[in-house]
This record gives sequence, C-alpha cells and structure tokens, in this order.
Amino acid sequence: MSYNFFVRSNITFGNGAANELPEILKRHGLKKIMLVYDGGVKAAGIAGRITEKIEEAGVEYVIFDGVIPNPTNRVVEQAAAQAKEAMVDGFVAVGGGSSIDLAKAVNVLMTNPGSIGQYGGMNLVKNPCLPLIAIPTTAGTSSEITNVSALIDEEKVIKYVVIDNHITASDVIADPEFTKTMPVSVTAATGMDAITHAVESYISNMATPLTEYNSLKGLSILYENLPKAVADGQDMEAREQMMLGCIITGFAFSNANLGFVHAIAHTLSAHFGLAHGMANACVLPYVMAYNAPACPQKMIEMARTIGLTPTGDPEKDPYLLAEALKDLTRKLGIKTLSEQNVPESAFDTLAEDVLKEPVLGFNPRQGVTKEDVIEILRKAY
Ligand SMILES: NC(=O)c1ccc[n+]([C@@H]2O[C@H](COP(=O)([O-])OP(=O)(O)OC[C@H]3O[C@@H](n4cnc5c(N)ncnc54)[C@H](O)[C@@H]3O)[C@@H](O)[C@H]2O)c1
Ligand SMILES: [Fe+2]
Repeated sequence: MSYNFFVRSNITFGNGAANELPEILKRHGLKKIMLVYDGGVKAAGIAGRITEKIEEAGVEYVIFDGVIPNPTNRVVEQAAAQAKEAMVDGFVAVGGGSSIDLAKAVNVLMTNPGSIGQYGGMNLVKNPCLPLIAIPTTAGTSSEITNVSALIDEEKVIKYVVIDNHITASDVIADPEFTKTMPVSVTAATGMDAITHAVESYISNMATPLTEYNSLKGLSILYENLPKAVADGQDMEAREQMMLGCIITGFAFSNANLGFVHAIAHTLSAHFGLAHGMANACVLPYVMAYNAPACPQKMIEMARTIGLTPTGDPEKDPYLLAEALKDLTRKLGIKTLSEQNVPESAFDTLAEDVLKEPVLGFNPRQGVTKEDVIEILRKAY
C-alpha cells in the first residue's frame, strides 16, 4: 500500500514565538497585509500585541475584525472585497479556528475566481494562495496547520468545508501565552474539539500508519492536559501541552479526515449556531459507542492510550473509551443538547441533514440511518 502524507507549514512554537513575526513577514517580502481577528481576541489584548510586531517590521496593514464564530460565506465575501480593494499581498490571522478559517477562505479568493461556495469539497482550489501566517489563540481546531476551512452557507443551511493543500498556512506562530485568556467554557469546548479530531482521525477509513501515530500521540497529550487547563487557565505547562497536542493531531486529521461526530456537529452549528467544540463534545461519547463494533481493536488501543487497562472481555473493552469520554465531558461541564437550546422537535430534520454530510463517508461504521442519528441526539439531549 502507498499513501500520501501532507505537511506544509513552517512552525515557530513556544513562549515569545510572536517575536518571530517581523522576520517571517520580511522573509516573504510582504509589503501590505490584512490582519484578521475578532472582538474576543481584541478584548484580550492579543490583537494589539500583533499589530505592534507588524509595525516593527515596517509592513503596512489593513484590519478585518468582523470575524464571527462559525464564519459564513457572507463574511468571507465582505473581507475578500476589502482585501482586494487594499491589494494586500498576504495575511496574518490571529484567533481561534473562526479567524484562521476566514483568512484561508479570503486567501482563496485573492488568486482564484468566483465566490467561496464553489470551492466547497476537496482539491478544487486551482491556484496557489498568498502567504498566510496563522497565530492560534485557542487550542482546539488545529486550523493553523490543516488544509481545511469550515464555513456556513446560510442559504443552504449547511456547514461545509473547503479542503485543499493550497489553503494551508505558510507559517504558524504557536505561542501558548496567547491561549491563557480563553474563558473556561472556550478552553473546554475547543479542547474537546481537538480530542474529537484525534479520535475520529484514528478510526477514519482514510487513516494510515503516519496519521495513526499522530492521532494517538495527540490523544494522549490532550486527554491528560485538558482537565488541567480547564481547572487552572494559568497552568502554562498544560496550556503549552494543549497547543502541542493540537498541532500533532492536526497532522493526523488533515490527512485522514474526520467522521460521524463532525457530521452531526456541522449540522447542529448550521441550524442552531452551536459552538463547534460544544457541538462535537456533547455527541462524541455516544457516536464512539455506536462506532465501537466497527473498529473494536482501535477502540481498545485508544483506551490504552488514555491510561485505561482493558479487562480482556471482548464485549466490554471496545466501549471503555466511550465511557471515559462520557465522564470527561461531565467533568468539563460540556452542555447537553437541551442546555444548548436544541429542541427535540428538530431531531427529524437534523437527522436528515446529517445523512447528507460528505464527512460521513470517512466514518468506520457505514450505513448510518436516520434512526441511528436520532438515537444519538436523544442520548445527548
Ligand atoms: N480548519 C480546520 O481544520 C478546523 C477544524 C475544526 C474546527 N474548525 C472551525 O473553527 C471554528 C471554531 O474555532 P474555535 O473553536 O477555535 O473558536 P472561535 O475562533 O470561534 O472563538 C470562540 C470564541 O473565543 C474567543 N477567543 C478565542 N481565543 C481567545 C483568547 N485567547 N482569549 C479570549 N477569547 C478568545 C473568540 O473571540 C470567540 O468569541 C469553527 O467554525 C469550526 O468549524 C476548523
Ligand atoms: Fe472540529
């Protein structure tokens, strides 16, 4: 068997990594960039620290600070119009997955014709993009190193993904200091998104030895450190490990893709605006129990990875991971679907839309039915 494993970004990792920004901007020969962020990142004082570094490099910049969680096509087109008007030659995105994904999508439109919706799918971006320096402030999505941008199409009421190696950030500045202002619920939700990526990529039917290695390593780091980061946001060792775990996991799912959990999460966010990490976390344990019969050995391997000892009972061991994830979500204060204001009356429509999600094609258990989805939504309610 031969397989491909794609890695692109130049990564600067650790405390003070942002000091490298002027050098990176100069290396790319950038003259005028667009700086992308949102209100939360600005309020945390992070955006200001980045503008100082850009000014230090003597590079001109325009700001797009209108990023929203679960960014939409409309916001992408707005930012792209501004970037084209200003004739920028590169991007710096500082923030969570929403800011980085938005910058990736805008970047597509700088060198490729048409509107962003037409690039939904895999490998549809024809021309290379401009330099993009991604500076994550959450430890969750791994968007800083993935070839993915997740966007909402408000007209179709779907969350879709643009997957293309061209959109991957050229450079990553991963400074754990930037994650310490994350509110507790954002730390928990984004951290659970990362754990979901590790687990789903490990059992994906596109997994290869290289992605499996990264999935398991990422899972072990994230599972150990997320409770610590949630318990004490100032625990810098845990913050650093979370950021590291995300990058390692990103290498895995960028190449192996995801599965049923993300199919449900995308649908929940498209219909009810749920935060991505929360949407994943509340269904994750139930989907893993559902998937267990399709990949029992891999479930046992993940249980071992998080420090559990299988009993030797082939009926029970494949479900150890799902049980542990249920305990973890309770401990971290992950909200149920009812607590996130998803009405039970919507389950039917939601289930129909989940079945249309392309990401379901990578799930180890195929043949998912509408009843299966509704059953999982009920358990997460
Ligand atoms: N591209 C990918 O590979 C990929 C993978 C998974 C998820 N995603 C997408 O990423 C998006 C979610 O991103 P996210 O979970 O990182 O959250 P986010 O970017 O939506 O941010 C969530 C909130 O936290 C705030 N915030 C972020 N960092 C902060 C900090 N350090 N201090 C204070 N406040 C801070 C933001 O202002 C925002 O209000 C979703 O749209 C999801 O679909 C992308
Ligand atoms: Fe995700």
